[in-house]
Amino acid sequence: MKAIELREKFLKFFEEKNHKIISGARLIPENDPTVLFTTAGMHPLVPYLTGQPHPEGKRLTDYQKCLRTDDIDEVGDISHLTFFEMLGNWSLGDYFKQDSIRYSYEFLTKVLNIPNEKISVTCFEGDKDAPRDEEAAKVWEECGIPKERIYYLGKKDNWWGPAGETGPCGPDTEIFYDTGKEKCCDECSPACDCGKYVEIWNNVFMQYNKKADGSFEPLKQKNVDTGMGLERMTFILQGKENVFETELFEPIVSMVKSKASMPNDDSLRVIADHIRASCLLVCDGVVPSNIGQGYILRRLVRRAIRHMRKIGFNLDDISALCETVINSLSNMYKELEENKENIIFQINKEKNRFVNTLSNGEKEFNKITSKLKEQNEDLIDGKSLFRLYDTYGFPPELTAELAKENGLKVDMEGYNKCFKEHQEKSRQGAEGVFKGGLADHSEITTAYHTATHLLLESLQRILGPHVMQKGSNITAQRARFDFSNPEKVQRDVLDKVEAMINEQIDRGLEVTCEEMPLKKAREIGARGIFDSKYGEMVKVYTIGDFSKEICGGPHVDNTSKLKHIKIKKEEAVSSGVRRIKMEFVD
Ligand code: SER
Repeated sequence: MKAIELREKFLKFFEEKNHKIISGARLIPENDPTVLFTTAGMHPLVPYLTGQPHPEGKRLTDYQKCLRTDDIDEVGDISHLTFFEMLGNWSLGDYFKQDSIRYSYEFLTKVLNIPNEKISVTCFEGDKDAPRDEEAAKVWEECGIPKERIYYLGKKDNWWGPAGETGPCGPDTEIFYDTGKEKCCDECSPACDCGKYVEIWNNVFMQYNKKADGSFEPLKQKNVDTGMGLERMTFILQGKENVFETELFEPIVSMVKSKASMPNDDSLRVIADHIRASCLLVCDGVVPSNIGQGYILRRLVRRAIRHMRKIGFNLDDISALCETVINSLSNMYKELEENKENIIFQINKEKNRFVNTLSNGEKEFNKITSKLKEQNEDLIDGKSLFRLYDTYGFPPELTAELAKENGLKVDMEGYNKCFKEHQEKSRQGAEGVFKGGLADHSEITTAYHTATHLLLESLQRILGPHVMQKGSNITAQRARFDFSNPEKVQRDVLDKVEAMINEQIDRGLEVTCEEMPLKKAREIGARGIFDSKYGEMVKVYTIGDFSKEICGGPHVDNTSKLKHIKIKKEEAVSSGVRRIKMEFVD
């Protein structure tokens, strides 16, 4: 079975169980300042897991593009990926453990025809925060999974979330496929990473909210959040050894291999994974840079380039490689084909930037290592790491990898210190890189969110209807808003935009929300992106007589709750895309 069929079968199965198929979100979370990327299917659904009603109801299913950056440096082995797709189904205060487990079992054994004997499961063993999950285990037994294949494990293995520091979480039951390999030892279990058991699905029973003080409180409703890794399930169904042998990766790996003079498996996998993730990131609006999402993209492209050089892959073939990636995935992600030109352009631009300094950087690295070896030392200090980064464009993680290959270590702490000093001096990077913590829907970010609706409408009225939102990012200090416009917006025009927004704030306009089918939203002239599924229910936020926009919320209920805004900066992001930063002023 091909990945695309698996995706279709999954959605259809849950649709038949009265789930609504919703559209997945972009890789960059909208209006969520606390995380860089969407890391799980539940991520865009946090407001609904914590009690807001979802316009499509209480049973949902979708496929979601995800990117996990924790183990970029592990990619190269057979199991780690940065970008992957997660298939998921959700109950928002509707069914719970019983049905969730029964649905999973039915899908695996009846639709995918996986024999019962191949399935092992784990349940939460219980601790001070939540009881031993005998309820889940009992349902598994009723489904026909014998006790010997039901394992109880602790929080480390059988608890999911919150995705950041706080938010929805709960015990989970994980489903494993037994590859048939010999047990590695008597204690071999799904907790073991010897390769006998592969995790294929995770059913999380989200019934707690983790608070900032580390304690858990019951959520308003008991939810189910499941996630199945599409790439993994695909290789298992195809009887392959790993994801790189499936149609999702094979054309990419083959292309690189055929053009490399000294291919090795690790490098082939790094290149295939990183360029695939990079294409999808650019497609969702990320541009290589030194901060935030752009920095992750930069690291991916540069690490891939280093491996290309290592295996003798001509860097002039990067465009052809991007095309291979896009072709191999265009039936899965139609947006890739539409953004092909920009993807190839951005990745090449980053390649050129890196290549210009790469060989000098390598010389510098060699100088550092020979000096260390002469002195019988094995630690590259923070200053050298910083110089390699600042002058030669070597992300410190890349230097660390090179160092490891040469039997050396790096002083990351020292690097961070140098970086900070530099940052203070040049007042750069003030934006910070946000890690951990789920959407903080605090009053101030909610207010900024409403202000971005006023901004979009004002830009469209003043600059013209070509203005489209290209992304936004909100922190407690400011709102950043990207939009399409062919040229710089002059200060006098920005002043007009600012005045128009502040006028709406002074008018004290009521903000209301209505749920309606996408088609109706389009008919009533709501602004928004109309590439979602036809017939899907959406929320439209109306701000008095001023703006109508499709949006998940949340928003203030009256514009009088906002302070006046000031547009602090207007700059280019990429060709045809501008960025505005605005702040509330007292
Ligand atoms: N949130 C859970 C996971 O990421 C299930 O979707 O595994």
